[in-house]
Amino acid sequence: MPSSRPHIDIQEHHLRIGSVDTVTLAQEFGTPLYVTDEQRLRENFRTFAGAFPGADIYYAAKANWNLSVLRILASEGAGADVFSDGELYVALLAGIPAERILFNGNSKTRHELQMAIDAGVRVSVDSIDELHALSELAEESGRIVDIAFRVNPDVSPDTHPKIATGLATSKFGIGYKDVLQAYEVAKELSGVNPVGIHCHIGSQILDVSPFGEAVGKMMDLVEQITRLEIDLEFVDLGGGLGIPYQEDLKAPTPADLADMILPIFEERSSAIGISPRLVLEPGRYIVGDTGILLTGVNTVKRSAKNFVGVDAGLNLLIRQAMYDAYHEVVVANKADLMMEELYDVVGPICESGDIVAKERMLPAIEPGDVIAVLDSGAYGFSMSSQYNGRVRCTEILVNDGRVDVVRKREDYGDLIAKNVMPARLLSA
Ligand code: LLP
Repeated sequence: MPSSRPHIDIQEHHLRIGSVDTVTLAQEFGTPLYVTDEQRLRENFRTFAGAFPGADIYYAAKANWNLSVLRILASEGAGADVFSDGELYVALLAGIPAERILFNGNSKTRHELQMAIDAGVRVSVDSIDELHALSELAEESGRIVDIAFRVNPDVSPDTHPKIATGLATSKFGIGYKDVLQAYEVAKELSGVNPVGIHCHIGSQILDVSPFGEAVGKMMDLVEQITRLEIDLEFVDLGGGLGIPYQEDLKAPTPADLADMILPIFEERSSAIGISPRLVLEPGRYIVGDTGILLTGVNTVKRSAKNFVGVDAGLNLLIRQAMYDAYHEVVVANKADLMMEELYDVVGPICESGDIVAKERMLPAIEPGDVIAVLDSGAYGFSMSSQYNGRVRCTEILVNDGRVDVVRKREDYGDLIAKNVMPARLLSA
């Protein structure tokens, strides 16, 4: 196993995670099965936080909002970037303190704004319409809400177009040239108190230079906003640090990111004569490599290609279909056997795009084998669905040989739980 994944190893041909045999897990709990390694999760958080001493790390809950994952991160001192009422609900429930939560989102409902006000979290305001709605609601509630504006910094990271968020044409944030005016408006409005500034340029970014460009542009704004006599308490540069999904991908480390950001941030802050806190919102880096998806082989079909039909598809991991994402796959019960044949590993979903892994050399595969899809901890379960009437699978947490279920497998009842049958259809 690659050294970049120290929590994963092989023993007696079996893949292990957190010193737990994945084949035994598959037998005991059935497949599909998501497995998360607690120690790796803690380690990733500590590595990231350690690279930015004094900064606040707001974990991006969208990457994986399992309650236990959030609870573990809360115990490590994480704050949270939440993007919806539901994520806010779960983050608070997990024990993340309200003062370390930033409510993001480009199209928040009034209900969501009210929930943010009631919870006492800060809000990253994405538009002038939202600013007015928030001001009105806060006033009605007799509260003053601390806000940041989400800035569209017009920075282009080299990543998949679907996960670049800071381009001028992206739907997120206030246009760079309109930001100052937004602060001027906010300053005069009641119920809102501008205390921060926020951006996020994209995700799975493997070259840190766009972060340098973004922090420079953000500090230009900070300088002008300070001249408006607004005291900025924090500068939030979002998330986006990529991880090495492929062995030959050289991904920057949090230390590389810090080397790019911190000198500019510190130098510019002291030149302006202020000392705002730095906030970062990593998601993928914290959870990506902590999780694997175990999926059982139903069939091996040899036609134009060798198709391995497994029991998990885009219903449980949509990244390949949505972003042409690459995830390494390992035959968990033959983890160190010779690679013999070229296979397409395909899911059970009625979509031609439901391909787990394309054209991979793997040991000879037969029904009953178990395939592990690596680096599935970020945007895996959190983007899952019940498409094709498939229940979501069990989620397991492992920690140095210990095994706990952290989300039970759904059942058929969950598929129809919120359906309501009009009485007239029953009697027909
Ligand atoms: N902050 C904000 C405001 C964000 O929108 C995001 C991600 C993050 C932080 C965390 O970014 P990260 O460190 O995880 O790159 N589903 C896609 C990724 C979408 C990311 C959306 N925003 C994927 O599976 O690749």
